[in-house]
Amino acid sequence: MAVNPPGPLAPIDVMQDAPVIPVIVLHEVAHAAPLARALLAGGIRMLEVTLRTPVALACIEAIARDVPEAVVGAGTVRSAADAQAAQLAGARFAVSPGYTHGVGRACHDLGLPLLPGVATGSEIMAAQEDGYTELKFFPAMQAGGMAMLKAWQGPFGDVRFCPTGGVSEANAPELLALANVACVGGSWLTPADAVAQGDWARITALARAAKALPRP
Ligand code: 3PG
Repeated sequence: MAVNPPGPLAPIDVMQDAPVIPVIVLHEVAHAAPLARALLAGGIRMLEVTLRTPVALACIEAIARDVPEAVVGAGTVRSAADAQAAQLAGARFAVSPGYTHGVGRACHDLGLPLLPGVATGSEIMAAQEDGYTELKFFPAMQAGGMAMLKAWQGPFGDVRFCPTGGVSEANAPELLALANVACVGGSWLTPADAVAQGDWARITALARAAKALPRP
């Protein structure tokens, strides 16, 4: 497994490392490092740990400390304070479910690469105004899926998306085949029951399959 590249990480690096960014929800700090190692063993090292549980920041800290080959990021970043706390815990990138200039500016000022969430043309334009051209499309399948991504290829041909929300091993290949999709995001690599049971072998197998998804 390659070690983290030196120098600043760009949003496009986060997107291009693997076809899938796992969206992770952790309820126990003790699960964080073994889960990260299980994903790494399957070839997935960009890990989005969502700020949705009381232990999320502690989990980010544990992965950053104990699994340095992984590149841990924070998901569900909804404020400047979230971004600061995530970076302090060791997050190397941030993902937000929507876009505000406040979050965009905060991440810019922190030097924290951000994949901002968008679901409309106006949100894409707001993010682009602030210099963001690699965006998360969320919630992708609920908000138009393939048809929406194809429609955006005309007016927003310079934007690369990470569709997330309703993406699975089954529909990921057709999304990844689109010219404006750099990667996809999803929770299917880390099923709640597998995490709760410590079934790391199952998670490694899911990661390996995700890593092998074809990208043009
Ligand atoms: C999320 O933020 O919950 C992600 O979009 C994951 O969605 P999924 O569970 O449909 O993959």
